[in-house]
Amino acid sequence: MHTVLTDSPTEAAEFIKRGGIVAFPTETVYGLGAAAFNTPAIRKIFEAKKRPADNPLIAHVGVSDQINLLVSKISDSADKFIAAFFPGPLTLVLPKSESVPLIVTAGLESVGVRMPANETAKEFLKACGTPIVAPSANLSGRPSPTIWQAVLEDLDGRIDCILKGGPTQIGLESTVVDCTSGVPHVLRLGSVSLEQLREVVPETRIYTPGEKEAPRSPGIKHKHYSPQARVVLIENGRVPADNGKSAFIGVHRPEQQFALQKFCSSVDEYARELFEFFRECDRHNVDKIFCEQVEEKGIGAALMDRVRRAAAG
Ligand code: TXA
Ligand code: MG
Repeated sequence: MHTVLTDSPTEAAEFIKRGGIVAFPTETVYGLGAAAFNTPAIRKIFEAKKRPADNPLIAHVGVSDQINLLVSKISDSADKFIAAFFPGPLTLVLPKSESVPLIVTAGLESVGVRMPANETAKEFLKACGTPIVAPSANLSGRPSPTIWQAVLEDLDGRIDCILKGGPTQIGLESTVVDCTSGVPHVLRLGSVSLEQLREVVPETRIYTPGEKEAPRSPGIKHKHYSPQARVVLIENGRVPADNGKSAFIGVHRPEQQFALQKFCSSVDEYARELFEFFRECDRHNVDKIFCEQVEEKGIGAALMDRVRRAAAG
């Protein structure tokens, strides 16, 4: 398959209308989209990404009316989150409507719904005229792509089209909140923080696997991306001496030199750069990546979550 590169949202939407799959930018990471009610097209997403069939997809909407096509019920807390954070980097898990194919939800009776705020994403979704289901546009097991070149690196020849936009503004995947039971549970941290969610619905909690009352998130059990290099979290600001080919990313500048290094001017920049830095380290066959610990508030909590998962992988 030849993968077409375009910066036209309407040209990209034509591929969706013909049953194809298209990578597109959002403010979090690039997604790989198909029309939400087109089962053969959705199957192509799983094939292209080599994604396990038991990991559900998020449905993206361009206008809030489309939410009603996807879900059968919107709880009071979900209503409040929608009013406060849509469009934005937040996914709500809600009871699915009958028309959502089970391939989208991996057999679950719930569906994740998100309305991106990125301008290119909005134009693309508007041109598609239907909800678009999309996981992150990486090969399964690799970091989510934050630039279109990273999508090309993983999926060239495997998808119909890449809608080229700029680098994603946030760089980490959306916050996922399960709103199917009375108490909202955060399944995945993102740039909408627990503190922000609690300002809207105070009883919101972080989901911990094993809790009886909350449905599990299938994504949690899948091995998360870890680079070929070993990822080491630096907790005390002191980077140990290392003989191998090592790399560093953080907000301070250690004394030693590294084969690859990125000093970010803020935690936001650190979050935005992390995944592409991991890819860069893989391209250069780095042995060890030192990642500086930052305070776990705001996006710092989501950033440390991703670093810890990579370190455990
Ligand atoms: O920022 C994002 O969320 C990006 C952009 C493209 O929107 N998408 C993304 O999709 O990160 P993906 O497939 O890589 O991650 C979706 C996560 C997975 O952990 C999945 O298990 C969870 O959301 N999820 C989706 N639907 C769910 C459901 N019905 N119940 C529980 N978890 C669900
Ligand atoms: Mg993903």
